[in-house]
Formats: sequence, structure tokens, C-alpha cells
Amino acid sequence: MPHEPPALSTALIHHPYRPPEGFAAPQPGVHKASTVIFPNVAALRARDWRQRTGYTYGLHGTPTTFLLEERIATLEGGSDTLLVPSGLAAIALVDLALLDGGDEVLIPDNAYGPGKELARQELARWGVTHRLYDPADVDGLARMIGPATKLLWLEAPGSITMEFPDLPALVRVARERGVRTALDNTWGAGVALRAFDHGIDISAQALTKYPSGGGDVLMGSVTTRDHGLHLRLKAMHMHLGLGVGANDVEALLHALPSLALRYAAQDASARVLARWWQSRPEADAVLHPALPGSPGHEHWARLCTQAAGLFSVRFDERHERAKVHAFVDALKLFKIGYSWAGPVSLAVPYDLETIRPAVGRHATLVRFSLGLEDPADLQADLEQALRHAFGGAAT
Ligand SMILES: Cc1ncc(COP(=O)(O)O)c(C=O)c1O
Repeated sequence: MPHEPPALSTALIHHPYRPPEGFAAPQPGVHKASTVIFPNVAALRARDWRQRTGYTYGLHGTPTTFLLEERIATLEGGSDTLLVPSGLAAIALVDLALLDGGDEVLIPDNAYGPGKELARQELARWGVTHRLYDPADVDGLARMIGPATKLLWLEAPGSITMEFPDLPALVRVARERGVRTALDNTWGAGVALRAFDHGIDISAQALTKYPSGGGDVLMGSVTTRDHGLHLRLKAMHMHLGLGVGANDVEALLHALPSLALRYAAQDASARVLARWWQSRPEADAVLHPALPGSPGHEHWARLCTQAAGLFSVRFDERHERAKVHAFVDALKLFKIGYSWAGPVSLAVPYDLETIRPAVGRHATLVRFSLGLEDPADLQADLEQALRHAFGGAAT
């Protein structure tokens, strides 16, 4: 020390701190750090950021981020998890870590749109090609896989159009040809669907949805069972400088204990309202994998008992798009906005020909995300908005 006692600024900064001893509580403490302090140079030199046995730098893990990683790995039934700033960043991390120039990635044509755009607009610039495949056509996928195919993305069910694929058959086709598989498991969340039970190599999730459940956090995760694969992903995670904020991790740790209850409640509400929509003359189809007749329902029934609180309604072509938009505008409890799994119910209209050109059909879909409101109130809201837009007895 240059002088004794040290100056106030120095004394405040170097004030001894020890976490409270003898304090045990179910709620974890929140640790924040960029700098991690080493006792000496030998310890600094010996520390390896790849190992979870110690701490190196805040970006590579704190007790708080390690704890959430462990809990997400448990949720997914995997062994290692990496946290990233969003669900889309989880998709990007997998692509960037596993694909080289000259490789091809296959993406279901009903996958989350921005993941397809990432391949179209960015991966292409690095010489990585992609093709969209029809997840309902297993033989077609088998024919598409060639020597350049290195990664197969899976999503169950598809975004917005909600088709549930024959996941084990798609995985079998990929494994027989030595192609790695990655599932966007945001819908299943580790509750309705566990990737590793089906031989999938990587499970990516938007923790933004069910694990957060609050509509207030953006985060993603990438979980694996193969430690070598995890280390490859972790290297790219480090090189890209990906990290998540301790306050967001804290919010996730707070929300996880109620995940299963929220998932079940939102599932139950969605099924009540999806069945109600089936009786409505304005609806041409109700797309919810747990409803018989919905595309891929038989695969859902074989693989799952639960479902996310999410479904889409396809409006009869007789109804002008403007009327469907007027219906969405008239909703009061359902808010207009992207994302899902928060406490507030949401509705978003989509033009089928824009999101799925391959379907070759012009139609308006409205995707509903069920929140935690009473389903009877939500049904009344839908009824008043339908009356407003379509009149008393739309047949
Ligand atoms: C299926 C699916 N995957 C990934 C994402 C991306 O998540 P985030 O909003 O955290 O980037 C979303 C977001 O809507 C999604 O629906």
C-alpha cells in the first residue's frame, strides 16, 4: 500500500467482502462480474476458460450463469448448455460453429423465419448453402442429403402453420447419412418434448418464451449431450463474445420453478379455445397439433402428451384479408405482438403466401399465443371481435 491507512477511494474499493456464512436459502445469489480475481499469476496462467471447474472472466461464466446453464441442461435432459442473448442467437451459434464454406444445411420450410433468413442472407456470403425441405416428406429429405450436407435443422411443430413432423423418422434419415441434427425446441421447451430422447444432437431454445414466461427477457440456450460437440460450440461462443446479463439470468432462475405449471395452464387454455374455434364458421382450419385432423397430429400423439399454448386459425378464403385484420384490431384482451408464452395473450395475422410460398395457397392465418388469463374471458374477447368484424352470424 502506498500509504497507511489507504485513501478513502482505495479503502472502499479494497474493502474486504465475504459472502454471508451460514446463510442458506432456496433462492440463489446473483453474481455479477467482468473481472474475476486470481490469487496469483500461477493461478491466472493455470485457469482454462473451457473448464467449468473455475472462473476466468465474466463472459465465460459466473456462479449465476453456470447455475442457469445446469438447470437448462436438466430441463432438456442434456449434459452441457450455453447461454446466448436470444433464441435467434442460439440458431446462429449452431450454424456458425458447425458449418464451413462448401457445406450445406437443410432447414424445414416451416421453420422460424429469421433462421431461414440467416441462411439466405448471411451463411450464403460465407459459402454455406442451404435448402428448405418439406418435413412431411421423409423420403424426399433422404433424397436431398448429399456429401455436402452437414447439418439438419428440425422444428416440431413448424412455426405458425404448426405441422408436427415424424421426428424419429427424420432423425433416422440424418443419422444413417452421418448428418448432425439440431432441434429448435422452443415449442417443446423440454416439457412436451425432449430432444435427446429422440437421438437429436443439439437442442436450441428461445428461453425468451416458456422458461422466462414473463415477456420481459430475451435469451437462448444451446444444449448437448456430447461434450466434444459442446466444446466446439463453446469455442464459437467465446470467439463471438456472446454473453448474457446477470439480471436476465436472475429473472430466468426466478421463473423456472413455475415452468411446468405455466406450460400446463397455457396448454389447457389453448386447447379449450382451439376446440371452440373449430365450431366457428369463420375458421377454415384450426392448426394445433393436439387436435385430430391438424397436420401431423398422429406424430404429436405418438411423441407427446402436452402442447404449448399456441395455435393458428386459417380463415376461410371467402373472408377478405381486411376483415381478418379488423377482427384482430378489435381484440381487447389479446394484444397484437410477436413472441409467446408470456402472461398476456397475443394475436398476429400472417399471409400464408408470404411465409410459406411453397404451399402455393393464398390465405390469412392468425396465430394465437395463450397467456394466463381466464379462458372464458379470452373466448368472450374473441366473440366480440368476430361480431365487430364479421357481423352477427357469419356463415
Ligand atoms: C420457434 C422459435 N424459435 C426461435 C425464436 C427466436 O427467439 P428470440 O425471440 O429469443 O430470438 C422464436 C421467436 O419467436 C421462435 O418462435
